[in-house]
Amino acid sequence: MTGEDRKTILEARNLHKRYQLGKNNYVHALRGASLEIFDGEMAAIMGPSGSGKSTMMHILGCLDRPDEGEVWLAGRRVDNLGGRELTAIRSREIGFVFQGFNLIPTLSALDNVALAAEYAGASRRQARDLAKQELSRVGLGERLDHRPSELSGGEQQRVAIARALVNDPAVVLGDEPTGDLDSATSDEIVSMLRRINEEKRTTFLLVTHNPEVGSACDRVIDMRDGIVGAGATS
Ligand SMILES: Nc1ncnc2c1ncn2[C@@H]1O[C@H](COP(=O)(O)OP(=O)(O)OP(=O)(O)O)[C@@H](O)[C@H]1O
Ligand SMILES: [Mg+2]
Repeated sequence: MTGEDRKTILEARNLHKRYQLGKNNYVHALRGASLEIFDGEMAAIMGPSGSGKSTMMHILGCLDRPDEGEVWLAGRRVDNLGGRELTAIRSREIGFVFQGFNLIPTLSALDNVALAAEYAGASRRQARDLAKQELSRVGLGERLDHRPSELSGGEQQRVAIARALVNDPAVVLGDEPTGDLDSATSDEIVSMLRRINEEKRTTFLLVTHNPEVGSACDRVIDMRDGIVGAGATS
């Protein structure tokens, strides 16, 4: 991507977040963190444990609010929206992929993905059609009826990726999406995300400790002590 055709899809402006521990004791997890993610890119956030990466992802994903600062998604300020609007944004505009997959154990792969589409407003039938399409995209077209316990870790993460993609969100956020996978499976998942990024131009922002995941991305954003290091908006 060249400099001129980059459109910002997600932006954090000067975020602060403190977690209260005791009466006069708190952790200042974000201390004025800013970053800008461009439409269609695949970016990584890397940094030491405790540097605020998950806190940043929760706030970017509208799962938590900053104490100060702003979050903008697709041209709209989202950190100050009310609960109902936030729920709608979380289900339609943001896809999540977590380290522990977070699938519903009693539901098939198909139903895990279809449920996310139904939450976003699709009919049951539309939701199942969309779910089949996304599960085929991640190579699980033959595993639709398997429950999570009947799938490998890599396959479970592919179901989670299909679920994250099913509503065609503005951005997919992943917090250590390969953290629970062996290195060969991790490589497969990252290649798959790269392919989806190239095919659909889905924007991905991935927190990772794995340098190979970082180097598969277009750009690595460094976090340290609650702030984003130099190069974040280069
Ligand atoms: N719910 C919480 N209550 C209190 N402190 C918290 C909470 N969540 C995070 N923290 C603290 O905030 C700081 C940033 O935590 P965060 O989870 O964002 O780091 P991280 O960069 O994701 O680390 P890791 O790489 O280990 O996942 C840490 O000092 C952590 O102990
Ligand atoms: Mg973390």
